[in-house]
Amino acid sequence: MTRCNHENADPAKGVNWTPPEQITCHLETERLIVRSYTLDDTQAMFDAVNDSRDEHLLPWMCHWADKGHRTIEDSTKYVCEQHLAILTPATFNNVGTGIFEKSSGRFIGGSGIHDLRRETASCETGYWIRRDAIGNGYAREACARTISWALQAQDQGGLGLNRVRLYCASDNTHSANLIEQLGITKEVEQREDYFIPTIGLTTRLGWGVLAEEWDCQNHRAITPSA
Ligand SMILES: CC(C)(COP(=O)(O)OP(=O)(O)OC[C@H]1O[C@@H](n2cnc3c(N)ncnc32)[C@H](O)[C@@H]1OP(=O)(O)O)[C@@H](O)C(=O)NCCC(=O)NCCS
Repeated sequence: MTRCNHENADPAKGVNWTPPEQITCHLETERLIVRSYTLDDTQAMFDAVNDSRDEHLLPWMCHWADKGHRTIEDSTKYVCEQHLAILTPATFNNVGTGIFEKSSGRFIGGSGIHDLRRETASCETGYWIRRDAIGNGYAREACARTISWALQAQDQGGLGLNRVRLYCASDNTHSANLIEQLGITKEVEQREDYFIPTIGLTTRLGWGVLAEEWDCQNHRAITPSA
């Protein structure tokens, strides 16, 4: 298994995660495909953000939804950047991926790997689901599969990371519930660490999962009794 190797780690460089030679993302779940974007996805993505922006996305993904995807050109630029990120393992540290309904091919949201830190072999993940597709467990399904991609060994198609971080505002109960239901350990509660224009200063909650705590075959946390 090609996973980050702590034993040979250089203390000056940390774990020093190295990327796979080629990075590909085409993940399947029972109901979804989570995959890297192609230019053909641009219009569907733009439409979904546009339709979901105001009350659904802006409160929780303010910068992303407010500054980006205001025009089709914004979304085209975004898709190209994600495409380039996955094609460039040497500098890879961030990629947004699309979530598609398997049965219809419909674009229903986004997830991704963010802020990948090589010295700790860790990354953050996040998600959003278009306004008219929430409440179906899609975000949970996509998030669990993305965590498996991050933590799975490189010779099994994963990124071979050691740790995944997840954050949300304490007021974002849908997001917090989703993470809790995945059985991931809550690690931090940073008071007044988020500013949300519609809410003001609020608490930032953080969770973390280590590779040894996650079942990459079944996409779920390994419970101590399992
Ligand atoms: C946060 C967000 C992704 C959650 O979406 P969601 O669809 O509500 O989340 P889930 O996938 O966990 O589905 C949750 C509900 O679907 C229900 N559900 C319906 N069918 C289901 C199925 N087949 N499997 C699992 N759950 C199902 C669950 O019961 C759950 O309801 P509950 O809250 O009563 O437990 C969504 O609200 C969103 O996009 N918000 C805006 C962006 C955002 O906040 N992103 C996160 C930033 S930290």
